[in-house]
This record gives sequence, C-alpha cells and structure tokens, in this order.
Amino acid sequence: MENKKRILSGIQPTGTFTLGNYIGAVRNWTKLQEEYDCIYMIANMHAITVRQDPAALRKNTSNAYALLLACGIDPEKSIAFIQSHNRCHAELNWVLACSTQFGELSRMTQFKAKSEKHPDDINAGLFTYPVLMAGDILLYQSDLVPVGADQKQHLELTRDIAQRFNQKYGELFTIPEPYIGETGARVMSLQDPLSKMSKSDDNPNACIFILEDKDTIIRKFRRAVTDSDTCVRFAEGKDGINNLMTIYSAITGKTMDEIEREFDGKGYGDFKTAVGETVADHLAPVRDRFAEFSADKAYLEKCWTEGAQKAESIARRTLSKAYRKVGLA
Ligand code: TYM
Repeated sequence: MENKKRILSGIQPTGTFTLGNYIGAVRNWTKLQEEYDCIYMIANMHAITVRQDPAALRKNTSNAYALLLACGIDPEKSIAFIQSHNRCHAELNWVLACSTQFGELSRMTQFKAKSEKHPDDINAGLFTYPVLMAGDILLYQSDLVPVGADQKQHLELTRDIAQRFNQKYGELFTIPEPYIGETGARVMSLQDPLSKMSKSDDNPNACIFILEDKDTIIRKFRRAVTDSDTCVRFAEGKDGINNLMTIYSAITGKTMDEIEREFDGKGYGDFKTAVGETVADHLAPVRDRFAEFSADKAYLEKCWTEGAQKAESIARRTLSKAYRKVGLA
C-alpha cells in the first residue's frame, strides 16, 4: 500500500453524470483503483461557483456519491468522500491563493466560458476556483490526476502553484501529472460535434445522462448530427461520426479499423442505433446499482463519513506542514 502511486480526482455534483464524465473520467477511475492508492471526491464546494438551490445541492451531492459507487468505485479499495466534509480544502485554498497570480487565473478558459454563460454572477469563487482545485490535489500529495482534456489547463496551473510554493517556502508538495485517457478524453455534443458534451447544454438531445433509459439513449443517438457522407469511417471533417466512433470504441474496446469493418456497407442509421444500444446496455447495470445505493441512505452515510475521516487524516498532515512553512503555525 505504502509505495503505490497516489491518485486523486473529483467531479461536481451538478445533476447526474454525463456520458462525457463517464467515458472521460469516472470509467477510468474504477480501473485505476486496482493498481493505485485512489482518492475520489464529490466536488460540492466547486458547485457553488454557480447559483445552486441548497436543498437540490444537498440531494445532488448524495446522488452523485451513490452514482460514484454505482459506477464501480469501491469504498473498500478507494477513499470516496465529499469535499465539504473535510475542512482542510477550504483552509489550504487560502494559503495557495496567496501564491497564485491574478494574471494566471485570468487566462483560464473555463473561467472565461463560465462568465460568459452567467454574466449576472461572475463571483470571486468562479475566478479563484482553480486554486481550490489545486488544493484538492496537493493536499493528498497526488502523483496522478485522471481527468478529461478540458481540465488540463487547471492541472498545469496546479503544477505551477506547487512549484512556486516549493521554491518560496521549501519542498512540500508532490508535483502531479495529468492522466488523460487515449480514447474519449473529449466526448463531443451529439448536436454540435465541435463543442464538448456538457450537462449545461440547452439542447437536451446534445447530452446523454448516464441514468437515462434505453429508449431515450437510443433516440438521442439516432438524432445525432452527422454529415452527408454515408460510409462509417474515421476521417478529418467527419466530426459527428468521429465522435460516435470514439464513444463506441471507448465502450467496446474496438479499434477504429475494427469499427469501420463492422459497419462496412451499412448506413449511418444502423450505426447510430448500434452505438445507442451498446451504450444503453453498458449503462443498464449502473442504473440498477444506482437504484440500490441511493435507496440505502444509512450505507451511503457510513461510507462518506469513513471516507472523509480517512481523507482528512492524510490532508491534515499536509495542511499542518504548509502552515508551518508559511509561518502561520
Ligand atoms: P467536472 O465535474 O466538470 O467533470 C468531471 C470529469 O469529467 C470530465 N469531463 C469530460 N471528459 C470527456 N468529455 C467530456 N465531454 C467531459 N465533460 C467532463 C472532466 O474533465 C472531469 O475529469 N474541476 C473539476 C472537478 C474537480 C477536480 C478536482 C478534478 C474538482 N477538484 C481535483 C480533478 C482534481 C470539474 O469541474 O470537473
């Protein structure tokens, strides 16, 4: 246990996970827990950077935790906890904020995108959010951070903050590496294959939520935007088909060549239905397990309470060292 590499990652509890979250991140997390010392977190403190209804946030946080277990995160193998249950995150955030430059936060593309989407609530938390995320990672001396491609810039900032702190105050933080899967690191919208699949998309057909029923999933895939070609092949300019092939490949493990051969002589309609069915069948057990876990509140509470205790005992050591280095303790 001691010399295994440490992994940390997190996901926001805003509604149920999308197929992008699943393929780009959570699916990899379950595989990694066999080989690494893994810590997974529901990032509820990040969620309040946009306005949330308190009761809905509480419910979504609990459901997101149940969904994590339903996807295969095993609380016996990994530490699974809820961010706000461990106060160390808020405390390290302040220390790191004082080692982060206004200029570097201004360059974060996610901040720019989110402030355009919510022009009436460009709060300071939205701006400093990448510092909170850096703290999430650095508190656990994480070696690897499995994320989708959209989080790469935040990871680079985390490395810069850690290096700067280590230089200024003396070695403390492990410098983390991003771990970005080869297939599916960027699952695209089914309606606009040039933008990423996102739960906040206004068009409900653009995004698959992993708890949706089979018919809905198939219907959304059948409506996916493609091109005027008829042949299933992975090529430049065929963004819609490329995205569907990537999804199919991520779920089945088949290569692009194998997929092209499988659908040789078949049209887009057959292909879209096959992708929809494959995804829906793959997700069916997740849906069943979610129904079980979410109904067992006592079990969930037991798991997240133990998870937070284990997480805090690791994080507290790093936080105390950071306080001493800076002169706060
Ligand atoms: P969040 O909640 O937006 O997304 C969770 C994970 O899903 C990945 N993802 C995707 N991957 C492929 N294609 C997509 N369309 C897609 N959409 C989302 C994200 O890259 C992410 O890995 N800031 C983070 C949460 C966080 C975190 C952390 C992550 C908080 N603290 C510490 C790692 C380490 C976020 O908002 O992810």
